[in-house]
This record gives sequence, structure tokens and C-alpha cells, in this order.
Amino acid sequence: MTETPSPPIEVPPPLAEALRGARRVVASTGAGVSAESGVPTFRDALTGLWARYDPMELGTPEAFARDPALVWSWFAWRRDIVRRAEPNPGHHALARLEDVVPSFTLVTQNVDGLHARAGSRNIVELHGNILRVRCSRCGHVPHAWDEAATAPPPCEVCGALLRPDVVWFGEQLPERAIEDAVLAAQESDVFLTVGTSSVVFPAAILPEIARSSGAVVVEINPIETPLSPSATHVLRYPSGVALPALVDAIRPRA
Ligand code: OAD
Repeated sequence: MTETPSPPIEVPPPLAEALRGARRVVASTGAGVSAESGVPTFRDALTGLWARYDPMELGTPEAFARDPALVWSWFAWRRDIVRRAEPNPGHHALARLEDVVPSFTLVTQNVDGLHARAGSRNIVELHGNILRVRCSRCGHVPHAWDEAATAPPPCEVCGALLRPDVVWFGEQLPERAIEDAVLAAQESDVFLTVGTSSVVFPAAILPEIARSSGAVVVEINPIETPLSPSATHVLRYPSGVALPALVDAIRPRA
């Protein structure tokens, strides 16, 4: 069987030029970047997690206090999906971008660790990482824990319950991560926002910070978001298609 080649992506020449001349590039990613790896997004109408589950029942400190086993099991189910997933061409393109621009920061709302598995190095995780757990009281992060447990095991230091090391609704983001992300946005020459609905703050403010600091802001998302009207360039493609094209446009593969 022969495959029909997909039409080439038009990377606007001014965008390729801006990337070639950029000293500092930031990519800020959301769940859409991992969609092509089979990891569900949150707000896509039919397939998003929040279309099927109530975040208030599963993703808040109150939910964990009310029913720790339910919250633990739901995160264990998501962790299994992430473990089975593989980085896709979008993740790989971002890792390659880090090699071809002088300074690169990857800011992500994703908790799946797929950017690191694809080879990205300078990563700021705004919402934590689902592959880690920490103590809900003392914050201790164990190297290993009983992953088959159907309820949260106790912390080896203080005995309180372990919880996923992710940010829940109503919780603060890790201070260091948000500071690093804001600084990177302020200093960026080109700021790519990829696969995010741009409705969750403070992540959604980062492209605005970049834009008001003079950066070229690029949105990659198949559909319109609240950011779209103010982006300098919009690429309406899946990230697994647009990102490789973007990197090829500035440094063609040998
Ligand atoms: P959302 O589910 O809100 O948005 C995913 C976005 O990805 C949508 O705008 C889709 O159009 C887009 N998308 C889908 N497939 C894509 C593809 N192949 N390529 C590019 N874009 C694609 O996910 P986030 O914006 O990441 O927070 O959500 C932000 C936060 O809300 C998450 O980190 C999570 C959630 O509640 C916490 O868990 C703390």
C-alpha cells in the first residue's frame, strides 16, 4: 500500500528567520503535545479527561482528604498510560530544537515526563510529575514505593500518606518553577506555545509576558485559543507535524 504524502507545512519565512536569529527560545507545552502519544488531554470535547471525570472529585487536596484511595487509583491509572506511551515527533523536534538554538528552555504543564524521555534537557515542570510521589505532610520524595498499592502507602519518614507529586486545583505551583518560567519568558526572543488551551493560569500568562517583552509569539494548535488573536504567528497543525517542520525550516536535516 502506498501512503498519500501529507501536504507540506508552510512555515512563514519571517518565523523561520526569527528562529534562525534568536538567541533565546522558549517552548511552553500543554497536553496537546502528548496527544499523539496517546496520552489524553484535559479539555478536548470528547476525549479530554475533564469531559469524563470531575476534576473536583479527583484533582484537589479536598478530594484526596475525602477519598485517598480513589484519587490514588485514578493517578495510578494515568501513570500506567504515561509509562506505556512513547514520545512522538513533536517531543523529538523540541529536543532537536534545543540543540540548534543558542539557549532553550522548555516550560511544560505536562506531568508525563515525555519531554525528558525524548531528550529535552532544560525543562521547567510547572505542574509536577506524575511518575513521582511525595509525602502529603513532610514533602519527602521516596525513590521507590509500592506501585501496585490500591491506596496511598505511608511515608517512610513520617507515616503520613504519599500522594502524586503533581499540582492540584487550588494549590500553588512550585515557586522555583514559576520563577524560572517567568524569567525565561521575559528573556525570550521567540516564544512557542504548543498544544495548550491557554486557559489555565499562571501558565497562560507566560506568552503575554513574552510578547510584552518583545518576543515573537508562535501558537501551534489545531484549534483557536484565547491566545490566538495576540500571537505573532499561528500554525494550525498538530504539534507532531508542525514542530518537525519548524525545526527543519531553520536547520534542515542532513
Ligand atoms: P487542555 O486539555 O486544556 O488543552 C489541550 C490543547 O491541545 C487544546 O487546545 C487542543 O486543541 C490542543 N491539541 C490537541 N491535540 C493536539 C495536537 N496533536 N497538537 C497540538 N495541539 C493539540 O490541556 P492543557 O492546556 O495542557 O492541570 O491544560 C492545562 C492544565 O489543565 C493541565 O496541566 C492540567 C489541567 O487541569 C493540572 O493537572 C494542574
